[in-house]
Parts: sequence; C-alpha cells; structure tokens
Amino acid sequence: MVPMPDATPLASVLATIDHRRDASLAQLKEFLAIPSVSTQPAHKGDMLKCAAWLSDQLREAGFAVRVEATPGHPIVLAKNEHKPGRPTVLIYGHYDVQPPEPLDLWQSPPFEPTVRKTEAGADAVYARGAVDDKGQVWAHVEALTAWQAHGGLPVNVTLLIEGEEEIGSEHLEAFVRQHQAELAADIAVVSDTSQFADGLPAITYGLRGLCYAEVTITGPSHDLHSGLYGGAVPNPANVLCSFLASLHHPDGRVNLPGFYVDVVPLTEQERATWRQLPFAEADFAASVGIPAGSGEAGYSSLERKWGRPTCDVNGLTAGYQGVGAKTVIASVASAKVSMRLVPNQDPAKIQAAFEKALGDRLPANVRHAVQWFGASAPVLVPIDSRPTKLAAEALAIGFEKPSTFMREGGSIPVVGLLKRALNLDALLVGFGLPDDRVHSPNEKFNLSALHGGTRTAAALYAKLAEL
Ligand code: BES
Ligand code: MN
Ligand code: MN
Repeated sequence: MVPMPDATPLASVLATIDHRRDASLAQLKEFLAIPSVSTQPAHKGDMLKCAAWLSDQLREAGFAVRVEATPGHPIVLAKNEHKPGRPTVLIYGHYDVQPPEPLDLWQSPPFEPTVRKTEAGADAVYARGAVDDKGQVWAHVEALTAWQAHGGLPVNVTLLIEGEEEIGSEHLEAFVRQHQAELAADIAVVSDTSQFADGLPAITYGLRGLCYAEVTITGPSHDLHSGLYGGAVPNPANVLCSFLASLHHPDGRVNLPGFYVDVVPLTEQERATWRQLPFAEADFAASVGIPAGSGEAGYSSLERKWGRPTCDVNGLTAGYQGVGAKTVIASVASAKVSMRLVPNQDPAKIQAAFEKALGDRLPANVRHAVQWFGASAPVLVPIDSRPTKLAAEALAIGFEKPSTFMREGGSIPVVGLLKRALNLDALLVGFGLPDDRVHSPNEKFNLSALHGGTRTAAALYAKLAEL
C-alpha cells in the first residue's frame, strides 16, 4: 500500500474504516467460514488454514508475520516496524472457536456467515466465532490495516493470536515464556469481552478464573440388568448424582473444603457502584427464558456472575441414552464440572479440595478418576491507570458514547499469564453485547458493534502513543 502523508492521521484512518465497512465485512465472512474448532481433532487442518488466512491478511497490511507451531494449534505472531522511543502494544486474540453443536438449532449454518436482523431489529452477522473472538480480532486487523495505509501506526504493535483459548490455552504459557523478550510490551490489549449493553460500552476490570474436571465413577465390571442386580450393587449413576448434589449447600453456597477461604469479599462500595448500572433482574431472567434467577443467597445476579465463585455441572453421562427404555445399571458414569473462581482463589488449591471431597464422599465399593482440563486464574486489573483512561477516551471516539466499568463472569487464561510471565497489565476492551449467544447456537456480532469496535481500536492505538 502507498503511504499517504497526513495532517490529522486518526481522522483519515476513521474515514477509511467508515468507507470500507462492506469490504471489511466481506473479509470477516471469509475468516468466519473456516471452521476452526480447536477441541475437535477433525478440524486440525482447518486450524492451520485459519492461521494461514489470518497471517496472509496481516502480511498484506505490511506486518512481519510468523505462524509458530506448538504441540497443539499454531500461534500467529505479527509485528509492524518497531521504532525506538514509542510505546509497544501487545494485542491478544484467539482464532479458535467453540464447537457449533447442536447444529439443528442454528437458523443459518454456523460456518456460512449470514447477515440478518436481530430480535431487537439491528443488523448482525451470524456465525460461530462471530464475536468470540474472530469478529473482534478482525476489528483490530481492519483498524491496523487502515493505519498502515495512512503512513503507518503511531505505536509499536505485536499481535499474538492463538488457536487454543477455548480449550484452556494449554501451550500458550510455554510459548510466552520462551519468547519473553520478543513479547515485551508496555500494555496488552484484549478484545474478547463485551459492552455492558447496546449504547453502553465498557472496560472490563475483572474476570473469573476456571477449574474444569471430568469425573468418572466405575462400579460393577459390566452393565447389569437393573432388576436382577438393582438394590444390591452400587449404581455409579446414583453415586455420581449424590456426589454432585453434595456440592452445594441449600443456600447456594459451594460445599467444598476451604472453597471460600481465599475469596476476597465484595466491598460495599463496589456493590453500590454495580447497583447503579442499568440492570433489571426481571429482564435478565426473561432474556434467558426463566421466571427468576438463582444462586448464592444474599447476592444479586450481577454479584453472583461477576464477584462470587461457583460450581456447575457442564455435562452428565451414564446409562442408556437411546430412544425408549432400557433397564440397565451402567458400569460407568461421568460428569464434567466447571468451577468459576474469584480473586484470590488458587486453581491448584480448588482442584485439591475437589479431589479431597471425592475421596471423602464416595462409597468404598466404587472407583473414581478425575481428569483436569486447562485452568485459568481469576484476575482484577487496575482501573485507576493512565492506559485505562486512554481506553475510555478511545471508546468515546469509537462509539460516540461514554463508557462504564464492569467485571465479567467468563475467563481468559492469557490475562493472568501475561501478568505472571511478563508483568504486563491488560486492557480488556471488548465490543460484544450481552445477547450475542457466545458458545451457543446463533452466535452473532452486531454490525454497529463491529464498526464501533473497529473505530475504537484505531483510536486506541493513537491514544496509547501518548503513554
Ligand atoms: N471470550 C470468552 C470469555 C468471555 C466472553 C469473557 C464474554 C467476557 C465476555 C472466552 O473465549 C471463553 O469462552 N473463555 C473460556 C475459557 C476456558 C475455556 C479456559 C470460558 O470462560 O469458559
Ligand atoms: Mn473468547
Ligand atoms: Mn469463548
């Protein structure tokens, strides 16, 4: 691309972004059409294809790009020309997506990106990964490309786009530690979260952590007739249900030894601030089709989601799953259980508490095994900081609206990792909306949010040059 001299670069960059809306959306649709499902081995080739597609776009924009192999899926690493004396911004995102199943619930196929109206009447692109996280990665790529077309970026940029976020970022830690010098930066930017509401952009300052277990309980050596044996042998499905039921007290608190010991209580001040946010319990319940929410006694839904730890069954399997009845006691039962953690809970300690409860609570005549999947530490990022102030200014330019601060209940493993390994603080500036149905059928990204997010990203690079 031919660099053009510019008097007010940001204004020109924003004009280019506005002008390229349709062209940019067409490219995002190409990105979304690649089924980069990290957890399913059948998509190994699509992961490579997706990393290659993304690196081509960045190379086209004048970045030096490498696709770095890992024992899992590749990492895309890209840099503009780093010049001394100006800040370095590390932009993180992920190109992997969650499995699209169940497929029959999608109104248009998950990997055939389709623009249509949302229930609220806005235009949105529907596809798996539309907002989590390909659409948000694309907002940055589009903004970076626009800057490059106007004489180059005002900051040094390093992009780190991984392919294993949705499976716990297993190989990212080793990569980050091996490339410490290359990844050194003044601030990290992560766009993998949401706005508080349509019209209320947000900077996220807290994420919950995560522990994820798969528990398998084995009883009899083979499946048994439930009449001939029932009542005289341990039924792994019954045993599993009792154990899972033991995980909560009647008041909704989690019943694991020491679970709350390291939990930092919410301050009255923080709770008061959250009560000022435009959030109605009834609307929240209605938005997910239930008459009322539920959870730990004494807390609001926002407090339960953002500031309190949880334990939830995420999958449950035992016995006959086919059509009709089969009178059988299955030999094996298993469950997937996620625990969301808050500061200062330690995933390792919580895993140990869960394993102790299993050992203490299961009867002696069954065996059990636990497999742990990627853990993520809870994080709080400082908001009383210069980068945060600059991010708020960028959101005001991008969305033409004042922003607020929020926490989120989800987890992003890289945020804690960047702090531990590189002592790097992250700005969590995401552009999604609460009704985007992330991880669910009919995931979408509103086109106005995509556009506002792209403008915000462009403004943010200009703002961070002032660091
Ligand atoms: N982007 C999400 C997390 C998120 C979504 C944060 C919406 C805030 C608003 C991320 O991709 C995600 O799903 N993370 C996983 C992490 C896990 C697999 C280690 C999660 O939270 O379940
Ligand atoms: Mn994500
Ligand atoms: Mn996700």
